[in-house]
Amino acid sequence: MRVHERLDELYAIGGGPGGNRPHPSAAEDEAHELAAGWLEEAGLTVEVDHDGNLFGHVQGSDPGTRPVWVGSHLDTVPVGGKFDGALGVVTAIEAVERAGFGSVVAFRGEEVGCIGSRALIARAGLLPRAFLELHIEQGPTLAQRGLPLGLVTGIVGYARGQLVVEGRAGHAGTTPMEGRDDALVTAAGEILRVRDAALAVEGGVATVGQLEVEPGGTNVIPDRVTLSLDVRAPDAGRLDELIAAIGFEPAYRVEPVQLGSSVRAAFRAALDAHGVEVTELPSGAGHDAGILASAGVDAGMLFVRSLNGGISHSPDELSTAEDIELAVDVLAAALRRVASSP
Ligand code: GLV
Ligand code: MN
Ligand code: MN
Repeated sequence: MRVHERLDELYAIGGGPGGNRPHPSAAEDEAHELAAGWLEEAGLTVEVDHDGNLFGHVQGSDPGTRPVWVGSHLDTVPVGGKFDGALGVVTAIEAVERAGFGSVVAFRGEEVGCIGSRALIARAGLLPRAFLELHIEQGPTLAQRGLPLGLVTGIVGYARGQLVVEGRAGHAGTTPMEGRDDALVTAAGEILRVRDAALAVEGGVATVGQLEVEPGGTNVIPDRVTLSLDVRAPDAGRLDELIAAIGFEPAYRVEPVQLGSSVRAAFRAALDAHGVEVTELPSGAGHDAGILASAGVDAGMLFVRSLNGGISHSPDELSTAEDIELAVDVLAAALRRVASSP
């Protein structure tokens, strides 16, 4: 199937192992150029907006009507998987081509705080009347329930920022262990404190994924460490609580959102029509659909079962060809339903 060939082509960009198309990078640009070619092949009108987001519009749509968008993102985390984001873009091309309706969208920089979709909203760009995003689940729930597809109820809120720990630099060989002020040793305690703060908030998670150690010599006691923070919770109150417990000022924050939309109803009806038992689940990952829903767009998401225990942000991320083919059918059917609704 064309979807799988295209996923392989995207995965090859940036070199292995894993998907390496971070934002911003030449690899992300190359992925957008490749996808633009596919949009043209499908007979869509290609447009790149002010923020680098890529669109493919079905020609002949009434310019007075607000469009329906289908899509996701093409950037990846470092050493990411094949499906996160890319699956939602390549399947959107199939769905829009089949339905002869709507616009495909590939947003920029989803992994680094939904840069593209947030910029579009901040600029008060034209928003669609509805948005459909298909995405790999990135968790074990559907596999545990023995179901190929799932309807997303809501998307977690998250905040990102930093903690900075200071110490005193010195010679690694001549400074006695007693009396050192090693910033990295202090940072180790901070990482445990962050973990414990998240354990104390129901549904909360917090991750330190990057450390910048200065001055960075193997024979120098570190005097400054910057820890990255990714902090999430299912509702705004618990997110506030966790941010306060850790004690940091978020660089940016994305609010949790419910997807109680008519797109969700269209996905439900499409699942029914394809004989797939409907199951609902929340998303612990952030998505562009959450940004659009927060801005008032009627947004809905369909998840495809993840294998390998639901591992994601890893080259081990996996969905089967069979589940993906079913997902394309359901996505196209849901788009047709949204298209025919007023
Ligand atoms: C996006 O994958 C996220 O970090 O939730
Ligand atoms: Mn994603
Ligand atoms: Mn991701």
